[in-house]
Amino acid sequence: MKGILLAGGRGTRLLPTTLAVSKQLLPVNDKPLVYFPLSVLMLAGITDILVITTPEDRPQLQRLLGDGSQLGLALSYAEQPEPNGIAEALVIGADHVGGEPVALVLGDNVFHGYSFQELLRQECRDVDGCVLFGYPVSDPHRYGIAEADADGRLLSVEEKPDHPRSNLAVVGLYLYDGDAVDIAKNLTPSARGELEISDVNRAYLERGKAKLVHLGRGFAWLDAGTPESLLQAGQYVQLLEQRQGVRIACLEEIALRMGYIDAETCHRLGAALGNSAYGQYVMSVAEQFGNR
Ligand code: DAU
Repeated sequence: MKGILLAGGRGTRLLPTTLAVSKQLLPVNDKPLVYFPLSVLMLAGITDILVITTPEDRPQLQRLLGDGSQLGLALSYAEQPEPNGIAEALVIGADHVGGEPVALVLGDNVFHGYSFQELLRQECRDVDGCVLFGYPVSDPHRYGIAEADADGRLLSVEEKPDHPRSNLAVVGLYLYDGDAVDIAKNLTPSARGELEISDVNRAYLERGKAKLVHLGRGFAWLDAGTPESLLQAGQYVQLLEQRQGVRIACLEEIALRMGYIDAETCHRLGAALGNSAYGQYVMSVAEQFGNR
């Protein structure tokens, strides 16, 4: 399965902070926001990933993540000059996807929960049509909102509805079979001039091939697109990391545990960041792993 990480957009809700810095590079406690969605693709077992950015933000993202080989990944980059919609990522990424199944993740989404990796791997393995993830929210008019039957078959999906039919927000992680690019290429832009991801999802719904997986109450999903939600994400991550002594979305640790890199490489990556608590953690994980 291929991966696309969509890290474009202008971050207008975070102005003036985002005047000179990409939203996806802002810190969530101890690491850049983009580490969180990238970690999701890595945990799903996806290593061939296209990062889509604005032309202005591309050099900084590339400086941060490089070609991914240090983490056992193959990262490539493409530009989205204007925020013409989330579904445009599938059009921009057409050659990268090449008719294969694809996981598309939004650059400002933070996920954390028990057994998430198993859930991800299972859903990626079984994808036939599209798989969406639903999360209960108290302010449904702010999101794509989905409705499903008892078997998880999607019944409706609407983008930021005035009168939501449910409180289940569609999170920014979309799993598609090999038809997604063709569907996206044939979309008509919405009234706000965007290629809407909800329209791709509706096309699958009309084929009877759209599934909604509930992320339970114990799960944490945050989109860190506003000052409040960015701070909340940082507080959440800080609390858990301090309490448990483990780090969330530590890319070097995930690469090690997934078998993308060995303990020696992991230790070297940690040493390069050694003055920080993050770097110290990466080294200690590598040492524990190496001693097993
Ligand atoms: O976060 C989940 C929600 O994301 C979904 O429930 C909605 O269905 C979906 O439309 C989207 O809603 P948002 O209002 O959060 O979309 P936003 O325009 O903020 O874009 C989300 C991220 O995607 C943001 O980090 C910027 C990036 N993006 C967005 C667009 C429209 C791009 O890189 N390019 C784009 O053209």
